[in-house]
Amino acid sequence: MVKNKSRRAAEIEHPSGDPRFNLVDRTLKRFQYQQDALIEVLHTAQEVFGFLEDDLLIYVARQLKLPLSWVYGVATFYHFFSLKPQGEHTCTVCMGTACYVKQAAEIVAMLQAEFGVAPGQTTADDKLSVATARCLGSCGLAPVIVIDSDVLGRQTADSTLAEIKARLSGQIRARQLEAASANDEVEEMEAETL
Ligand code: FES
Repeated sequence: MVKNKSRRAAEIEHPSGDPRFNLVDRTLKRFQYQQDALIEVLHTAQEVFGFLEDDLLIYVARQLKLPLSWVYGVATFYHFFSLKPQGEHTCTVCMGTACYVKQAAEIVAMLQAEFGVAPGQTTADDKLSVATARCLGSCGLAPVIVIDSDVLGRQTADSTLAEIKARLSGQIRARQLEAASANDEVEEMEAETL
């Protein structure tokens, strides 16, 4: 029975390739795709993504075979779920046991000291939101953080600070655009040689 469920999940795997969906999948699997695990799954989804965007609610509804209207209703009923993005950038620090013993609390303390925001808060300029999560399911990479759409393992307060500063200054975005344009050039060259 579980085998069938796994096969079903693989068939409707999220096509975006966004690694954050893998973390949601782990919670789905942990609860064996049971529909009454909806709130737990939404909790994980919000911890990982920062808020519950439409695409995410659709994914959860499909994986649990629940009507989207039901999932949407639950997400809007509970005040601790947010359907809108908070800051321009989001940093979620895992505070599960494995990450905690590997100094995840130092990362949270650094965020508070550097940016003046505690978990659950957004900077006054709406640039950065900070959150904490329970185990994100990647304990081997502890301590784990999720910045925007990237899951980063073995982080320190210093590496997290450097990563956030790069994003706030636009360096990461510039690097992503450069990589995307390099990919386009390679694809064009490959198409020309065919
Ligand atoms: S405790 Fe952080 S990923 Fe498991």
